[in-house]
Amino acid sequence: MLTLRETIDVACPAQAAFDYLANFTNIQAWDSSVLAARQVTAGAPHIGTRFRLTLQFGGRPVPMDYRITAMTPPQRLVLAGRGESFRAEDRITLAPLATGVRIYYEADIEFTRRWGRKIEPLLAPLLRRSGRRAIQNLKQQLSGEGRVPRLTLATRMADQAILPGIIGFTRLGYRFGKNRWPLTPNSLRGRTVVLTGGTSGIGRAAAFQLIALGAELILVARDRAKAEQVQRSLLAAREDANVSIEIADLSLMADIRALAKRIAASHPAINVLINNAGAIFNPREATAEGIEKTLATDLLGPFLLTRLLLPCLSAGQTARIVNVASGGMYTRGIDLENLDSAQGAYNGAEAYARAKRGLVILTELWAAALADSGISVHAMHPGWVDTPGLERSLTAFHQRLRPWLRTPEEGADTIVWLAASAEAGRTSGLFWRDRLPRATHVFPGTKSPSRERKELMARLERLA
Ligand SMILES: NC(=O)c1ccc[n+]([C@@H]2O[C@H](COP(=O)([O-])OP(=O)(O)OC[C@H]3O[C@@H](n4cnc5c(N)ncnc54)[C@H](OP(=O)(O)O)[C@@H]3O)[C@@H](O)[C@H]2O)c1
Repeated sequence: MLTLRETIDVACPAQAAFDYLANFTNIQAWDSSVLAARQVTAGAPHIGTRFRLTLQFGGRPVPMDYRITAMTPPQRLVLAGRGESFRAEDRITLAPLATGVRIYYEADIEFTRRWGRKIEPLLAPLLRRSGRRAIQNLKQQLSGEGRVPRLTLATRMADQAILPGIIGFTRLGYRFGKNRWPLTPNSLRGRTVVLTGGTSGIGRAAAFQLIALGAELILVARDRAKAEQVQRSLLAAREDANVSIEIADLSLMADIRALAKRIAASHPAINVLINNAGAIFNPREATAEGIEKTLATDLLGPFLLTRLLLPCLSAGQTARIVNVASGGMYTRGIDLENLDSAQGAYNGAEAYARAKRGLVILTELWAAALADSGISVHAMHPGWVDTPGLERSLTAFHQRLRPWLRTPEEGADTIVWLAASAEAGRTSGLFWRDRLPRATHVFPGTKSPSRERKELMARLERLA
């Protein structure tokens, strides 16, 4: 039997480190020999929770099952693993330090087949080296010392080239991205997250990921029955989840004002606002307040909600705003004289693209204005995702591309990463897809001079 022993000091609260480790699926972020990991048992990790890992061993994928056998939060965690030719026991002990936590990681690995026992002495140095590397990666993860991703020339060129750009939006883009990610989100325990559009598609998937990280969640929805159904599912997945519901139609400015007042009264400090609710409308419609619906839902609504929640976000300290935009915005610039798509023939996809372009511009303007406030602002594209919204609004596109669409969970990944990771918190004003900053302009004629960008903000202010 081989025993690996490593000790690391990490600048992270003991409870957050414990939560991160107890969700053993996180191992795929710090142990490069793990190709994939998923939780098999429902609910928050507890004694008996099972995980299925796929390891890279001897050049081929090898399945291995792990089970939590002992758990004393936030001090001790033991997992027993069993694969076809070896078993393992990981014993993790955490001791609080003045500035973080000391983690003692001990792993026994035992080959159960005769050939395995024979090669064990040969493999031992290799296993020790990869174990040491994995624990150093774990330290980096927990300390939030990971490299901050940058917009590189290669990414910009890939975004601008038609085929790689398109492939990147599909599930293949997510898969390619995933192989390259060294990072997973840290804990959101003690952080309050306001999420709009959590009753369907990408937002619903994000809600599950956010509570898995321990966030207190405020679900903003227009349909109470749907919101309560999601709340029940969240509580079934994690019985200690803290989820409240706020009802508002986010295309109505009066609703948004009332919503912001209620949130400020119940939660004077919030840490993350995720503007995810959005839709495409065909044909052109106006709200009861007389505002064209795409503009109202996809741009003016997020603008007003963000503005009204800024005091709560300031009080939240190191807060984040995540705006869910769309790659559709690549096709359009803003049109200040036609914000409400009243001129010319109306096209829902075009109006949507212009609204999402506006949201990306707001992200950049807010990032600059809030640079010294501790609030970072991010825009992102979830990729092309198989959701009820996409099926409803772009039915033919949805049908044709279905095999290539991402799952809602894959679409939500970068939203949650932007909300939670230490690395994302050290950037602001960027447009992301698959945890990488992306080009904001691909086609000519979509850029707006600074004067027009500021004017957009002023007009939204007047409209709202
Ligand atoms: N799916 C994609 O391929 C894709 C690609 C790029 C960007 N996006 C963006 O991703 C976000 C989520 O879209 P999705 O595909 O997940 O769509 P979805 O399945 O239709 O979900 C949209 C969510 O927004 C909510 N919502 C819409 N209008 C609202 C309003 N007026 N007031 C309150 N809530 C409202 C919906 O509530 P109900 O449940 O009550 O309808 C739902 O929860 C959107 O911003 C979308 O533009 C999606």
